[in-house]
Amino acid sequence: DKEPVTVLVTGAAGQIGYALVPMIARGLMLGSNQPVILHMLDIEPAAESLKGVKMELIDAAFPLLRGVVATTDVVEACKDVNIAVMLGGFPRKEGMERKDVMSKNVSIYKAQASALEEHAAADCKVLVVANPANTNALILKEFAPSIPEKNITCLTRLDHNRALGQISEKLNVHVSDVKNVIIWGNHSSTQYPDVNHAVVTTSNGHKPVRELVADDNWLNTEFITTVQERGGAIIKARKLSSALSAASAACDHIRDWVLGTPKGTWVSMGVYSDGCYGIQSGLIYSFPVTCDKGEWNIVQGLKIDEFSREKMDKTAQELIQEKKLAMSCL
Ligand code: NAI
Repeated sequence: DKEPVTVLVTGAAGQIGYALVPMIARGLMLGSNQPVILHMLDIEPAAESLKGVKMELIDAAFPLLRGVVATTDVVEACKDVNIAVMLGGFPRKEGMERKDVMSKNVSIYKAQASALEEHAAADCKVLVVANPANTNALILKEFAPSIPEKNITCLTRLDHNRALGQISEKLNVHVSDVKNVIIWGNHSSTQYPDVNHAVVTTSNGHKPVRELVADDNWLNTEFITTVQERGGAIIKARKLSSALSAASAACDHIRDWVLGTPKGTWVSMGVYSDGCYGIQSGLIYSFPVTCDKGEWNIVQGLKIDEFSREKMDKTAQELIQEKKLAMSCL
Protein backbone atom coordinates (compact mmCIF):
# COMPACT_ATOMS: atom_id res chain seq x y z
CA ASP A 1 0.00 0.00 0.00
CA LYS A 2 1.27 3.50 -0.87
CA GLU A 3 1.98 5.98 1.93
CA PRO A 4 -0.89 8.48 2.19
CA VAL A 5 -0.36 12.02 0.92
CA THR A 6 -1.62 14.80 3.19
CA VAL A 7 -3.65 17.48 1.42
CA LEU A 8 -4.60 20.74 3.11
CA VAL A 9 -7.67 22.61 1.90
CA THR A 10 -8.16 26.06 3.46
CA GLY A 11 -11.61 27.64 3.31
CA ALA A 12 -12.88 24.08 3.14
CA ALA A 13 -16.34 24.95 4.47
CA GLY A 14 -16.94 27.21 1.46
CA GLN A 15 -18.49 26.47 -1.90
CA ILE A 16 -15.42 25.28 -3.76
CA GLY A 17 -14.35 23.30 -0.71
CA TYR A 18 -17.61 21.39 -0.69
CA ALA A 19 -17.09 20.38 -4.32
CA LEU A 20 -13.35 19.78 -3.98
CA VAL A 21 -12.93 17.55 -0.94
CA PRO A 22 -14.94 14.63 -2.35
CA MET A 23 -12.97 14.87 -5.60
CA ILE A 24 -9.71 14.61 -3.66
CA ALA A 25 -11.05 11.73 -1.59
CA ARG A 26 -12.06 9.89 -4.77
CA GLY A 27 -8.56 10.12 -6.19
CA LEU A 28 -9.27 12.73 -8.88
CA MET A 29 -6.38 14.89 -7.72
CA LEU A 30 -3.60 12.40 -7.02
CA GLY A 31 -4.69 9.22 -8.74
CA SER A 32 -7.02 6.35 -8.00
CA ASN A 33 -4.33 4.34 -6.20
CA GLN A 34 -3.07 7.12 -3.94
CA PRO A 35 -4.43 7.18 -0.36
CA VAL A 36 -4.97 10.66 1.07
CA ILE A 37 -5.34 12.37 4.43
CA LEU A 38 -7.42 15.54 4.30
CA HIS A 39 -6.72 18.56 6.48
CA MET A 40 -9.53 21.09 6.30
CA LEU A 41 -9.11 24.59 7.70
CA ASP A 42 -11.68 27.30 8.08
CA ILE A 43 -12.34 30.17 10.48
CA GLU A 44 -14.39 30.16 13.66
CA PRO A 45 -17.73 31.35 12.15
CA ALA A 46 -17.60 28.36 9.77
CA ALA A 47 -16.40 25.81 12.34
CA GLU A 48 -19.80 24.12 12.76
CA SER A 49 -20.31 23.87 9.02
CA LEU A 50 -16.81 22.46 8.61
CA LYS A 51 -17.67 19.75 11.14
CA GLY A 52 -20.65 18.87 8.98
CA VAL A 53 -18.40 18.45 5.94
CA LYS A 54 -16.19 16.12 7.95
CA MET A 55 -19.25 14.08 8.96
CA GLU A 56 -20.24 13.76 5.30
CA LEU A 57 -16.74 12.68 4.31
CA ILE A 58 -16.94 9.91 6.89
CA ASP A 59 -20.42 8.97 5.67
CA ALA A 60 -19.23 8.74 2.08
CA ALA A 61 -16.90 5.88 3.09
CA PHE A 62 -14.22 6.78 0.54
CA PRO A 63 -11.76 3.88 0.28
CA LEU A 64 -8.78 6.18 -0.38
CA LEU A 65 -9.48 8.52 2.53
CA ARG A 66 -7.20 7.57 5.42
CA GLY A 67 -7.91 10.46 7.77
CA VAL A 68 -9.74 13.77 8.10
CA VAL A 69 -8.76 16.71 10.26
CA ALA A 70 -11.25 19.60 10.47
CA THR A 71 -9.83 22.53 12.37
CA THR A 72 -9.72 26.28 12.85
CA ASP A 73 -6.13 26.06 14.06
CA VAL A 74 -3.77 26.97 11.26
CA VAL A 75 -0.81 25.18 12.87
CA GLU A 76 -2.69 21.91 13.21
CA ALA A 77 -3.97 22.34 9.65
CA CYS A 78 -0.50 22.85 8.15
CA LYS A 79 1.23 20.03 10.02
CA ASP A 80 3.14 17.78 7.61
CA VAL A 81 1.07 18.69 4.55
CA ASN A 82 2.40 17.67 1.16
CA ILE A 83 -0.11 19.61 -0.93
CA ALA A 84 -1.86 22.83 0.10
CA VAL A 85 -4.88 24.14 -1.79
CA MET A 86 -5.71 27.63 -0.58
CA LEU A 87 -9.39 28.50 -1.04
CA GLY A 88 -9.70 30.63 2.08
CA GLY A 89 -9.70 34.36 1.78
CA PHE A 90 -11.63 37.53 2.29
CA PRO A 91 -14.18 38.17 -0.47
CA ARG A 92 -14.80 41.61 -1.90
CA LYS A 93 -18.07 42.91 -0.56
CA GLU A 94 -20.19 45.64 -2.06
CA GLY A 95 -18.87 49.09 -1.34
CA MET A 96 -15.44 47.86 -0.26
CA GLU A 97 -12.33 49.53 -1.60
CA ARG A 98 -9.81 47.36 -3.44
CA LYS A 99 -7.24 48.38 -0.91
CA ASP A 100 -9.34 47.12 2.03
CA VAL A 101 -9.84 43.70 0.43
CA MET A 102 -6.18 43.51 -0.47
CA SER A 103 -5.17 44.41 3.04
CA LYS A 104 -7.31 41.63 4.57
CA ASN A 105 -5.92 39.04 2.15
CA VAL A 106 -2.35 40.18 2.60
CA SER A 107 -2.59 39.56 6.33
CA ILE A 108 -4.26 36.15 5.83
CA TYR A 109 -1.64 35.01 3.31
CA LYS A 110 1.23 36.36 5.35
CA ALA A 111 0.11 34.38 8.41
CA GLN A 112 -0.61 31.21 6.44
CA ALA A 113 2.75 31.46 4.67
CA SER A 114 4.53 31.39 8.02
CA ALA A 115 2.46 28.44 9.25
CA LEU A 116 3.19 26.47 6.07
CA GLU A 117 6.84 27.33 6.24
CA GLU A 118 7.12 26.10 9.81
CA HIS A 119 4.85 23.09 9.79
CA ALA A 120 4.33 21.73 6.27
CA ALA A 121 6.53 19.07 4.64
CA ALA A 122 9.71 20.61 3.23
CA ASP A 123 8.68 19.85 -0.37
CA CYS A 124 5.07 21.01 0.05
CA LYS A 125 3.39 22.11 -3.18
CA VAL A 126 1.04 25.09 -2.88
CA LEU A 127 -1.88 26.08 -5.11
CA VAL A 128 -3.57 29.40 -4.35
CA VAL A 129 -7.14 29.65 -5.65
CA ALA A 130 -8.54 32.46 -3.51
CA ASN A 131 -8.66 35.86 -5.17
CA PRO A 132 -6.68 37.89 -5.94
CA ALA A 133 -5.04 34.52 -6.67
CA ASN A 134 -1.78 35.67 -8.29
CA THR A 135 -1.10 38.31 -5.68
CA ASN A 136 -2.07 36.08 -2.74
CA ALA A 137 0.44 33.57 -4.09
CA LEU A 138 3.04 36.32 -4.37
CA ILE A 139 2.52 37.28 -0.71
CA LEU A 140 2.72 33.62 0.28
CA LYS A 141 6.01 33.31 -1.61
CA GLU A 142 7.44 36.43 0.04
CA PHE A 143 6.61 35.22 3.54
CA ALA A 144 7.61 31.60 3.14
CA PRO A 145 11.17 32.05 1.92
CA SER A 146 12.20 28.51 2.81
CA ILE A 147 9.55 26.99 0.52
CA PRO A 148 11.15 26.82 -2.94
CA GLU A 149 9.54 29.43 -5.19
CA LYS A 150 8.87 26.70 -7.76
CA ASN A 151 6.46 25.16 -5.23
CA ILE A 152 4.12 28.15 -5.07
CA THR A 153 1.54 28.51 -7.83
CA CYS A 154 -1.91 29.93 -8.47
CA LEU A 155 -4.90 28.64 -10.37
CA THR A 156 -5.53 29.73 -13.97
CA ARG A 157 -6.43 26.23 -15.08
CA LEU A 158 -10.11 27.08 -14.82
CA ASP A 159 -9.58 29.83 -17.40
CA HIS A 160 -7.54 27.41 -19.51
CA ASN A 161 -10.32 24.82 -19.37
CA ARG A 162 -12.90 27.49 -20.19
CA ALA A 163 -10.91 28.37 -23.31
CA LEU A 164 -10.76 24.69 -24.34
CA GLY A 165 -14.51 24.49 -23.74
CA GLN A 166 -15.28 27.49 -25.96
CA ILE A 167 -13.20 26.12 -28.85
CA SER A 168 -14.75 22.70 -28.50
CA GLU A 169 -18.27 24.19 -28.59
CA LYS A 170 -17.44 26.39 -31.57
CA LEU A 171 -15.98 23.55 -33.63
CA ASN A 172 -18.26 20.86 -32.30
CA VAL A 173 -15.32 18.63 -31.39
CA HIS A 174 -14.54 16.76 -28.19
CA VAL A 175 -12.91 18.98 -25.62
CA SER A 176 -10.17 16.38 -25.14
CA ASP A 177 -9.21 16.82 -28.81
CA VAL A 178 -8.38 20.49 -28.23
CA LYS A 179 -5.08 21.40 -26.62
CA ASN A 180 -2.38 24.00 -26.06
CA VAL A 181 -4.45 27.09 -25.53
CA ILE A 182 -2.67 29.52 -23.21
CA ILE A 183 -3.84 31.80 -20.45
CA TRP A 184 -1.31 34.57 -19.99
CA GLY A 185 -1.18 36.76 -16.91
CA ASN A 186 -3.58 37.49 -14.13
CA HIS A 187 -6.60 35.44 -13.09
CA SER A 188 -8.80 38.47 -13.71
CA SER A 189 -10.59 40.05 -16.63
CA THR A 190 -7.26 41.29 -18.04
CA GLN A 191 -6.05 37.71 -18.60
CA TYR A 192 -5.17 36.93 -22.21
CA PRO A 193 -6.59 33.67 -23.58
CA ASP A 194 -4.36 32.90 -26.57
CA VAL A 195 -5.20 30.35 -29.27
CA ASN A 196 -2.30 31.09 -31.61
CA HIS A 197 -0.56 27.81 -30.75
CA ALA A 198 -3.64 25.72 -30.00
CA VAL A 199 -4.38 22.62 -32.06
CA VAL A 200 -7.19 20.13 -32.58
CA THR A 201 -6.62 16.42 -33.07
CA THR A 202 -8.54 15.37 -36.18
CA SER A 203 -8.63 12.21 -38.28
CA ASN A 204 -6.07 14.01 -40.48
CA GLY A 205 -3.65 14.79 -37.66
CA HIS A 206 -3.22 18.00 -35.66
CA LYS A 207 -4.77 21.14 -37.15
CA PRO A 208 -4.25 24.68 -35.82
CA VAL A 209 -7.32 26.14 -34.17
CA ARG A 210 -6.78 29.32 -36.23
CA GLU A 211 -7.14 27.29 -39.43
CA LEU A 212 -10.23 25.36 -38.31
CA VAL A 213 -12.13 28.27 -36.80
CA ALA A 214 -11.30 30.53 -39.77
CA ASP A 215 -13.39 33.30 -38.16
CA ASP A 216 -10.47 35.44 -36.94
CA ASN A 217 -12.84 38.11 -35.80
CA TRP A 218 -14.53 35.73 -33.35
CA LEU A 219 -11.18 34.49 -32.08
CA ASN A 220 -9.86 38.02 -31.59
CA THR A 221 -12.91 39.44 -29.87
CA GLU A 222 -15.83 37.37 -28.59
CA PHE A 223 -13.78 34.29 -27.73
CA ILE A 224 -11.42 36.36 -25.59
CA THR A 225 -14.09 38.31 -23.76
CA THR A 226 -16.22 35.21 -23.18
CA VAL A 227 -13.33 33.51 -21.40
CA GLN A 228 -12.34 36.66 -19.53
CA GLU A 229 -15.88 37.28 -18.34
CA ARG A 230 -17.03 33.72 -17.79
CA GLY A 231 -16.76 33.98 -14.01
CA GLY A 232 -19.19 36.89 -14.03
CA ALA A 233 -21.58 35.03 -16.35
CA ILE A 234 -21.67 32.08 -13.93
CA ILE A 235 -22.40 34.38 -10.98
CA LYS A 236 -25.20 35.99 -12.96
CA ALA A 237 -26.75 32.62 -13.79
CA ARG A 238 -26.18 30.79 -10.53
CA LYS A 239 -26.16 33.72 -8.11
CA LEU A 240 -23.04 32.01 -6.81
CA SER A 241 -19.53 31.88 -8.22
CA SER A 242 -18.11 28.90 -10.12
CA ALA A 243 -17.47 26.09 -7.69
CA LEU A 244 -17.62 22.70 -9.41
CA SER A 245 -15.53 23.88 -12.36
CA ALA A 246 -13.06 25.60 -10.02
CA ALA A 247 -12.75 22.45 -7.90
CA SER A 248 -12.27 20.32 -10.99
CA ALA A 249 -9.61 22.70 -12.33
CA ALA A 250 -7.77 22.61 -8.99
CA CYS A 251 -7.62 18.80 -9.31
CA ASP A 252 -6.37 19.10 -12.90
CA HIS A 253 -3.69 21.59 -11.83
CA ILE A 254 -2.29 19.43 -9.02
CA ARG A 255 -2.65 16.16 -10.92
CA ASP A 256 -0.70 17.41 -13.93
CA TRP A 257 1.91 19.06 -11.69
CA VAL A 258 2.50 15.89 -9.67
CA LEU A 259 1.94 13.20 -12.28
CA GLY A 260 3.09 15.11 -15.39
CA THR A 261 1.51 16.55 -18.53
CA PRO A 262 1.04 14.26 -21.53
CA LYS A 263 3.75 14.47 -24.17
CA GLY A 264 3.17 17.38 -26.56
CA THR A 265 0.61 19.01 -24.29
CA TRP A 266 0.97 22.06 -22.13
CA VAL A 267 -1.34 23.62 -19.55
CA SER A 268 -1.60 27.06 -17.96
CA MET A 269 -0.38 27.68 -14.42
CA GLY A 270 0.25 30.84 -12.44
CA VAL A 271 3.96 30.58 -11.57
CA TYR A 272 6.71 33.02 -10.67
CA SER A 273 8.26 34.71 -13.64
CA ASP A 274 11.99 34.45 -14.27
CA GLY A 275 11.70 37.25 -16.82
CA CYS A 276 10.91 35.07 -19.83
CA TYR A 277 8.59 36.41 -22.53
CA GLY A 278 9.51 39.88 -21.24
CA ILE A 279 7.41 39.52 -18.10
CA GLN A 280 8.85 41.28 -15.04
CA SER A 281 10.62 38.69 -12.95
CA GLY A 282 9.18 37.81 -9.58
CA LEU A 283 5.54 38.32 -10.57
CA ILE A 284 3.21 35.35 -10.30
CA TYR A 285 1.99 35.24 -13.90
CA SER A 286 0.14 32.57 -15.83
CA PHE A 287 2.32 30.85 -18.44
CA PRO A 288 2.10 27.74 -20.59
CA VAL A 289 3.95 24.99 -18.73
CA THR A 290 4.78 21.33 -19.10
CA CYS A 291 5.25 19.20 -16.00
CA ASP A 292 7.54 16.25 -15.44
CA LYS A 293 8.59 14.47 -12.25
CA GLY A 294 6.75 16.95 -10.06
CA GLU A 295 8.28 20.05 -11.67
CA TRP A 296 6.78 22.61 -14.01
CA ASN A 297 8.74 24.30 -16.75
CA ILE A 298 7.62 27.24 -18.83
CA VAL A 299 7.27 26.39 -22.53
CA GLN A 300 9.97 28.42 -24.24
CA GLY A 301 10.34 29.99 -27.64
CA LEU A 302 6.72 30.48 -28.67
CA LYS A 303 6.32 33.21 -31.27
CA ILE A 304 4.47 36.22 -29.89
CA ASP A 305 2.78 38.57 -32.35
CA GLU A 306 2.03 42.23 -31.73
CA PHE A 307 -1.61 41.60 -30.80
CA SER A 308 -0.54 39.12 -28.14
CA ARG A 309 2.35 41.26 -26.92
CA GLU A 310 0.06 44.12 -26.10
CA LYS A 311 -2.38 41.92 -24.18
CA MET A 312 0.38 40.09 -22.30
CA ASP A 313 1.84 43.42 -21.19
CA LYS A 314 -1.51 44.83 -20.15
CA THR A 315 -2.21 41.95 -17.77
CA ALA A 316 1.39 42.17 -16.46
CA GLN A 317 0.81 45.85 -15.75
CA GLU A 318 -2.23 44.99 -13.68
CA LEU A 319 -0.16 42.50 -11.66
CA ILE A 320 2.52 45.11 -11.07
CA GLN A 321 -0.16 47.46 -9.72
CA GLU A 322 -1.62 44.70 -7.53
CA LYS A 323 1.82 43.93 -6.19
CA LYS A 324 2.35 47.61 -5.34
CA LEU A 325 -1.00 47.75 -3.58
CA ALA A 326 -0.23 44.54 -1.66
CA MET A 327 3.17 45.81 -0.59
CA SER A 328 1.63 49.08 0.59
CA CYS A 329 -0.64 47.02 2.89
CA LEU A 330 2.27 45.39 4.72
P1 NAI B 1 -16.64 30.86 -0.17
O1 NAI B 1 -16.86 32.22 0.38
O2 NAI B 1 -17.81 29.96 -0.36
O3 NAI B 1 -15.59 30.09 0.75
C1 NAI B 1 -14.44 30.68 1.28
C2 NAI B 1 -14.20 30.05 2.63
O4 NAI B 1 -12.98 30.57 3.14
C3 NAI B 1 -15.28 30.35 3.67
O5 NAI B 1 -15.74 29.15 4.26
C4 NAI B 1 -14.56 31.24 4.68
O6 NAI B 1 -15.04 31.04 6.01
C5 NAI B 1 -13.13 30.73 4.53
N1 NAI B 1 -12.10 31.63 5.05
C6 NAI B 1 -12.10 32.98 5.11
N2 NAI B 1 -10.98 33.43 5.69
C7 NAI B 1 -10.23 32.34 5.97
C8 NAI B 1 -8.98 32.16 6.60
N3 NAI B 1 -8.28 33.20 7.04
N4 NAI B 1 -8.52 30.90 6.74
C9 NAI B 1 -9.24 29.85 6.33
N5 NAI B 1 -10.44 29.95 5.76
C10 NAI B 1 -10.94 31.19 5.58
O7 NAI B 1 -15.85 31.08 -1.54
P2 NAI B 1 -15.65 30.04 -2.75
O8 NAI B 1 -16.72 30.25 -3.74
O9 NAI B 1 -15.41 28.68 -2.20
O10 NAI B 1 -14.32 30.61 -3.40
C11 NAI B 1 -13.08 30.57 -2.70
C12 NAI B 1 -12.11 31.54 -3.31
O11 NAI B 1 -11.73 31.13 -4.61
C13 NAI B 1 -12.63 32.96 -3.48
O12 NAI B 1 -11.60 33.86 -3.14
C14 NAI B 1 -12.94 33.06 -4.95
O13 NAI B 1 -12.88 34.39 -5.42
C15 NAI B 1 -11.82 32.22 -5.51
N6 NAI B 1 -12.03 31.67 -6.85
C16 NAI B 1 -10.93 31.55 -7.66
C17 NAI B 1 -11.02 30.95 -8.89
C18 NAI B 1 -9.80 30.79 -9.75
O14 NAI B 1 -9.94 30.31 -10.86
N7 NAI B 1 -8.60 31.14 -9.31
C19 NAI B 1 -12.31 30.45 -9.40
C20 NAI B 1 -13.39 30.58 -8.48
C21 NAI B 1 -13.24 31.19 -7.25
